[in-house]
Amino acid sequence: MGARATETTRELESTSIKYQIGGHTEKMWQRLKGILRCLVKQLEKGDINVVDLKKNIEYAASVLEAVYIDETRKLLDTEDELSDIQSDSVPLEVRDWLASTFTREMGIVKRRPEEKPKFRSIVHAVQAGIFVERMYRRTSSMVGLAYPAEVIVTFKIPVPNLISFAEALEVGYSKYKNPYHNLIHAADVTQTVHYIMIHTGIMHWLTELEILAMIFAAAVHDYEHTGTTNNFHIQTRSDVAILYNDRSVLENHHVSAAYRLMQEEEMNILANLTKDDWRELRSLVIEMVLSTDMSGHFQQIKTMRHTLQQTEGVDKAKAMSLILHAADISHPAKSWELHYRWTMALMEEFFRQGDKEAALGLQFSPLCDRKSTLVAQSQIGFIDFIVEPTFSLLTDSMEKIVMPLIEEASKSGSPAFGTPSQNSLGAVNNAEAQRRPSFKSASDGGTHTENSLATVDLTSFKDNLMKIIQANKERWKELAVEEELVKNVGEQETDQSRNSTEAQLQEETTRIQNESSQGGDGTACPPRSIVLQVVSFDTPLSDESNSEKCTNSDPNQKDLTDAQQETQNTDPLNGEPKHCKKSEDLVKATEQKEALIQN
Ligand code: CMP
Ligand code: MG
Ligand code: ZN
Repeated sequence: MGARATETTRELESTSIKYQIGGHTEKMWQRLKGILRCLVKQLEKGDINVVDLKKNIEYAASVLEAVYIDETRKLLDTEDELSDIQSDSVPLEVRDWLASTFTREMGIVKRRPEEKPKFRSIVHAVQAGIFVERMYRRTSSMVGLAYPAEVIVTFKIPVPNLISFAEALEVGYSKYKNPYHNLIHAADVTQTVHYIMIHTGIMHWLTELEILAMIFAAAVHDYEHTGTTNNFHIQTRSDVAILYNDRSVLENHHVSAAYRLMQEEEMNILANLTKDDWRELRSLVIEMVLSTDMSGHFQQIKTMRHTLQQTEGVDKAKAMSLILHAADISHPAKSWELHYRWTMALMEEFFRQGDKEAALGLQFSPLCDRKSTLVAQSQIGFIDFIVEPTFSLLTDSMEKIVMPLIEEASKSGSPAFGTPSQNSLGAVNNAEAQRRPSFKSASDGGTHTENSLATVDLTSFKDNLMKIIQANKERWKELAVEEELVKNVGEQETDQSRNSTEAQLQEETTRIQNESSQGGDGTACPPRSIVLQVVSFDTPLSDESNSEKCTNSDPNQKDLTDAQQETQNTDPLNGEPKHCKKSEDLVKATEQKEALIQN
């Protein structure tokens, strides 16, 4: 009996060494399982003494530990993803930016001064006309009343509190007058999260509390954003950087400040949650919002990819975090007109940070020097290395989670598969309905469900997204050719090329403006079609009429889109309400451009 036990030990020893050298994790797990079973059998037979047993278990533990360490190391190792970025096809500036922004491991690589081409017109061209509209209705009385009574009762949110909270959020998002991180971005991300939950069918996997957590997290995810990056906070030793010890500085602030609002009784929208629900929601919201810190991007992708390869189910908080993260970087998956506007708004925000850095004598952060930033190139990099992999992972994850639900529901004729009579909101006490709520449109009298699992078409969802992302990338490639020209030609010789690039970008901006912003009186108000595209993936490129489809086909988006249609008066460039007259920004941009040309 001792001999057999020693054999087991030897086997364990050799595999443990083999593992540490070779590292075939999957095989190792199988082997380890076999060995443990063998030990169990020997135990059952009484065929092993205590000393051997102890030795064997210790070996098994050491192998397990080795597997664990290696797996953890692999998970933490983002070098695989980053190695592609080192390819020569990606300009140095873009590589530096990707490496320094989307990982925690690499510091900012110093850029060489000779590699800063003059490229200064983009912002001015863009300032001339970006209009998206407001997130919330200003008239507070309309907020709650737009919802059917059952919905309000179901979610237990006191309407006056919701109104006060939404107004406070609006104020916080407008505090720093950011071109990009303003209340429209918050509305856009919230709507996109909502869209993803419905169109992937993932809402049938989530409980009502989790759905609330998703929407809430999206709404607060950039609350009181300062318009500057975490790195800027750290470099300038800002109060928040000190408060949060340089760790996810902004993200910590967004959640903390939003929760602080709810400490006021009249803004406490979670007042009616039970203690347990309140805690669960808070834990989910914290995890989700902290996961929007882009420096954790590669790690998040890697961990989730790894999870998908396992046979076990997907962790809910991780899946929800991925949805929020994807929604947060989703504008490249929307029509070119929208994507271009969002990008330029973000660039302006970055450039304003660059202005501050210059004034403080700090080195420019990547993409923050308005005179040299390669916008088109950076967007190609952003799409290639960040957006595409994220959406590919998102759709794969949704598939893994939702396909079994669809199969199960189709077999059992579950309510989530769309039997109208079973989809009443009145059925929330039923366990099945709690787990897989099916929301109804306010207009259908509660007899019909649009968002059952039966209507989920993940293939179209994925194809549509990927098509739009690719098309946007192609547009940037066209612009990058000009950009490259400007970069390569010497300073004196650039005038002509720069003018042509300026002209091309100006042309692009004017074209977009003309397409989207011409009110009947010649003023620059966004028409409905563009407004609706802000909040939907439904928009194939060059199909402007599709926006109509969004309103009609997607009643679950009705409340937000209605609110947006009726208040189309906020300028995303400064987060302030805008009225339908020629904007001050337009005038300012024209003046700046004229000054630039004269210089
Ligand atoms: P935030 O909205 O806080 O979280 C997601 C981040 O992605 C966003 O801030 C930007 O820093 C970054 N991001 C979004 N869109 C782009 C883009 N088009 N180019 C570069 N970075 C982007
Ligand atoms: Mg953020
Ligand atoms: Zn954001």
